[in-house]
Amino acid sequence: MNAPHRHTADATTVEEGLAIQEERSKFDSQAATDLAMQNTLLTPRFYTTDFDELDAVDVSPVRADWDHLMERMRADPNRGHFRKTEDWDAVDWEGMDEELKAEALDFLISSCTAEFSGCVLYKEMKRRGTNADIKELFSYMSRDEARHAGFINDALREAGVAVNLGFLTREKKYTYFRPKFIYYATYLSEKIGYARYITIYRHLEENPDKRFHPIFKWFREWCNDEFAHGEAFALLMRTDPKITQSFANKLWIRFFLTAVYGTMWVRDHARPRFHEALGVEIDWYDLEVFAKTNAIARQVFPIELDIDNPRFVRNCRKLEQATRDIAAAKARGGLGGGLARLAGMARAGAAFAGIYTMPVKRNAVPESPRMEPVY
Ligand SMILES: [Fe+2]
Ligand SMILES: [Fe+2]
Repeated sequence: MNAPHRHTADATTVEEGLAIQEERSKFDSQAATDLAMQNTLLTPRFYTTDFDELDAVDVSPVRADWDHLMERMRADPNRGHFRKTEDWDAVDWEGMDEELKAEALDFLISSCTAEFSGCVLYKEMKRRGTNADIKELFSYMSRDEARHAGFINDALREAGVAVNLGFLTREKKYTYFRPKFIYYATYLSEKIGYARYITIYRHLEENPDKRFHPIFKWFREWCNDEFAHGEAFALLMRTDPKITQSFANKLWIRFFLTAVYGTMWVRDHARPRFHEALGVEIDWYDLEVFAKTNAIARQVFPIELDIDNPRFVRNCRKLEQATRDIAAAKARGGLGGGLARLAGMARAGAAFAGIYTMPVKRNAVPESPRMEPVY
């Protein structure tokens, strides 16, 4: 294979980043792409929305904060960063414990899919938009996500696998969300992404011997991109007070908080060897990430989940167990498997409701949402 002349890290537009990846896709592997194609409750999805409604957003109510954010994104501090350098240590995929290898690959493939999901959605908004502010924002965010996905794919290629992103764009099922649901879901996934990456980064700063893969060294700049993307969605939500303040929308925010936190708990607990290798205790890590995300989301959400309420962890564990049982029942098949699966789904629903119906904590949202990544 010839070394490619161009790298996604240097791409200044999403189109360029994707063209470079399409070029390489002939080497990408079926198994990883199949995994990325899955649409289950626990795998990253692709989204589409009402692009005209999003394009019609007027950012003048948040103009000062908006211009400040655009200036930083325009300066593009991470251009060229997401590529292998001399800091990239060799990874011994061959010698790695089989279970750890499987979980680490699963982590990389699902992260790559999630990054790419953002890329595809943001790029589509950029392409369809006519509103200069919206187009500019979505061009920067899609540029960043294309680099992130490209870099994870570089890491995957060393293990002999990679996700065919062009195929995914064409063939993966897209879930439709109204713009306000895109705000809640995407805002949370950007901010929780920041909290996840920075928590791992700080942990490995303290415990460098646990860094079993070099990609974690890149997490600080990476999470700053995600933080900025979250800031953009906070501003979009602030353009219309109803989006976060109406009674019905507060219930929706609660719903998305429950779904995002619950999913993260279940997914992380499905990767015990991966977290053991990092020296991270999963309960601690998840609660730490939720605490950071709660603190950040006070910039825009008037309510937060009370993660200190014992009902929270209790129902997270129930959700985790129900998910395991559903997977086992599915593998078993037949009538018995089908019934066990239904029973599992009912228990998962009850656990979800157990989190959703906890008394929430209320926040007085600040005048300006502007915030810096301080963790
Ligand atoms: Fe990203
Ligand atoms: Fe992002």
